[in-house]
Amino acid sequence: RRKLLVDVDCGVDDAQAIMLALAAPSVELLGITCVHGNTTVENVCRNTLRVLQACSKLEIPVFKGASKPILGVCINAGHFHGEDGLGDAPDPNAPGLDLVQKEGAVSAMIRIVNENPGEVSLVATAPLTNLALAVKMDPSLPSKLRGLYIMGGNTESRGNTTVCGEFNFTADPEAAYIVLNDYQCPTYLACWEFTCYSKLSWEFCDAWLAQDTDKARFMARIFRHSIEASHGERLQKEFVGGTGFVSCDSYAMAAAVDDSLVVESDRYPVSVELTGTHTRGMMIVDTVGFLKKAHTATIMKKVDMEKFKRMMTAALQ
Ligand code: BDR
Repeated sequence: RRKLLVDVDCGVDDAQAIMLALAAPSVELLGITCVHGNTTVENVCRNTLRVLQACSKLEIPVFKGASKPILGVCINAGHFHGEDGLGDAPDPNAPGLDLVQKEGAVSAMIRIVNENPGEVSLVATAPLTNLALAVKMDPSLPSKLRGLYIMGGNTESRGNTTVCGEFNFTADPEAAYIVLNDYQCPTYLACWEFTCYSKLSWEFCDAWLAQDTDKARFMARIFRHSIEASHGERLQKEFVGGTGFVSCDSYAMAAAVDDSLVVESDRYPVSVELTGTHTRGMMIVDTVGFLKKAHTATIMKKVDMEKFKRMMTAALQ
């Protein structure tokens, strides 16, 4: 079975991505590391435990990681995911933070990869602070990964957080820079514009949530806030590529679960802008070769949408 380690800032689409992985019979989820992002790292831990509870998988270890970016202050995405990161739909029976492991996320990441050299696919659906700290502590880490799958960055300088910046990269540009430059392993990027061009229709969404399962009912509750926000005027303007719903993090996860999902991609060296009036956090795609970097990332362009829909559907069954 394919071994996955997942780093999340568990908002609603992280929840969808985790559920997609848990539903895949070919996957062994070794652990979930949490980081600041959509909400505080404490909320992220709580939300992750709620998702695992909804899937009866509380035995999967959850680790708490960085509460702040490497430089600067935290931003969050409460306007979209809800203030608690999971749709502001609290559950009185939610598991407590006492279930979070004592070991920190960065140590756990280093330990788990070293215990399974060459076998772990690391999926990051959040600001990259934990991954950046881990590679600084253990520079050999990338060489021991099977692959790195990231939801983040952008390819057309269309931001969702600043004019040019996608949320995960803008929330910690230095961490994104470190990861894109220090992880010299097979790297797959599900960037913002690609996820928008690969939207699922609202009709699919309705049928998806109407499945007669506890997982679908759980998703319908936590997703309501984002659905309403998606219909708001500001977000319609932000959304590239027409209407529909974007489960951004699920594309990175699905690519890690099934190698045949991505049917079209580009390979280029990439980096991140760290300064600039409007461009801090924006991803740079070096199509010409100015960066003189040998390492390239696979930038997803098209996925098999029928396969993706099947994976999403299975996530709630
Ligand atoms: C990314 O930002 C977050 O709000 C989502 O969870 C996703 O990881 C999209 O830019």
